[in-house]
Amino acid sequence: MTVLRSVVLGCGSYLPAKVVTNADLARTIDTSDEWIVQRTGIHQRHIAANNELTSDLAIAAARAALANGHVDAQTIDLIVLATSTPDNTFPASAVTVQTGLGLTRGAAFDLQAVCSGFVYALATVDGLLRTGTYKRALVVGAETFSRILDWSDRTTCVLFGDGAGAIVLEAQQQPGNREDRGILTTHLRSDGRHKTKLYVDGGPSSTQTVGHLRMEGRAVFKHAVAMITDVIEDAFRATGYTAADIDWFVPHQANKRIIDDSAHKLGIATEKVVTTVGQHGNTSAASIPLALNVAVKDGRIKKGDLVLLEAMGGGFTWGATLLRW
Ligand code: ACO
Repeated sequence: MTVLRSVVLGCGSYLPAKVVTNADLARTIDTSDEWIVQRTGIHQRHIAANNELTSDLAIAAARAALANGHVDAQTIDLIVLATSTPDNTFPASAVTVQTGLGLTRGAAFDLQAVCSGFVYALATVDGLLRTGTYKRALVVGAETFSRILDWSDRTTCVLFGDGAGAIVLEAQQQPGNREDRGILTTHLRSDGRHKTKLYVDGGPSSTQTVGHLRMEGRAVFKHAVAMITDVIEDAFRATGYTAADIDWFVPHQANKRIIDDSAHKLGIATEKVVTTVGQHGNTSAASIPLALNVAVKDGRIKKGDLVLLEAMGGGFTWGATLLRW
């Protein structure tokens, strides 16, 4: 019996031109390249130009994904933009992306789950595509975290960067067996008891300001590996796949130590882990599609490969997606 699945048609990304190295940061705050690399694996990050908005980054990534998949923008009937740094409080930046692509039909909305935004968006879009209501969707993760950082706080400002990534998904009938391409399973979780461990201290209803990112780094780190590996075990249980079956592990790129520890705990071989945090920093909802794009472009991820995605972020929110590329 065939099964309707959300199959990847293409992917793309966009990084702002400006690169800020650890040495650049060490000129304005009390930090060092050695400290940042040792604790996080981050060497540099991209920072959006003053006139570049989250929607500009998202549109560039969406165009690249459409071109990569040879998809006509006019065939897209759903756009979901995962972001915590929208252009405005409202309307959703996704409608700016829609207009930017010249689209006037279908639906577009933003989704906010901080660093888990892309896996939350994938799960949401997968559900909508599999109802048969929508046929082709753009899932975008785009962030300008540089705008919500306190650049005098060395414990947070060294960790994040700006960027965007996108994939095009299409509802396709698949055979209903182990050869199926597309999203195979999605698992989402949240626990609001942890909301003060990683948050922004402003907002329209509370302070009427945008606010700055605040984080208890050690507390986030303490929970991260256990939460990530737990939800991935759910994905394995749901599909019958194991760590040995995975071709590529593309985790949220927050910290190299979290990525390495998670892969080790799950028994995923180091050479199967896609790590871009060194070049991009933590780009929140953009980090997974940015990393996917790197591994597709350099020839690692190929059609038919089994790809495991995971993310964990503010809320806490966390989740995992298993798909066949
Ligand atoms: N440069 C130099 N020293 C620093 C810096 C810096 N940039 N930042 C902190 N330090 C100092 C601290 O002041 C502290 O000094 P002290 O011992 O004299 O008090 C010392 O380094 C150790 O600080 P810790 O915070 O304990 O360092 P830790 O080893 O925990 O590393 C880090 C900090 C990198 C933030 C780590 O805790 C981490 O990665 N946590 C997870 C963060 C994360 O993944 N966040 C993203 C979640 S995704 C999302 O939703 C946004």
